[in-house]
Amino acid sequence: LASIEFNLAGIEVGQSVTITWRGLPVFVRHRTQKEIDEAKAVPLSDLKDPATDEERTKPGHEDWLIMIANCTHLGCVPIGEAGDFDGWFCPCHGSHYDSAGRIRKGPAPLNLVLPPYEFISDTLVQIG
Ligand code: FES
Repeated sequence: LASIEFNLAGIEVGQSVTITWRGLPVFVRHRTQKEIDEAKAVPLSDLKDPATDEERTKPGHEDWLIMIANCTHLGCVPIGEAGDFDGWFCPCHGSHYDSAGRIRKGPAPLNLVLPPYEFISDTLVQIG
């Protein structure tokens, strides 16, 4: 399917699920306020692939982070709630992503990629 609808209703704050879209794993994370605050506090000058937290989320839905779950180095699936930046850690070669999925340390060149998606309602997203 080119696009899918996904219901967020059962995902509590601090929980993540991994779903599949076009054969790709996709992380859906319901971020905590701490994770949001940390992501917003990072100066762009600290980032290898500069992007604001606002650019990584949708207006009014900043508690949700939806990203393709392949490390931008060589494609492994990073581990959640791990690494030095309260985000994801890729065990293949040691890339650390922050709580907005931005690359912070290690060989990966780019942030975790955002799929095209829109909120249909507060609890329903269409990906693709
Ligand atoms: Fe993730 Fe190499 S594939 S660090």
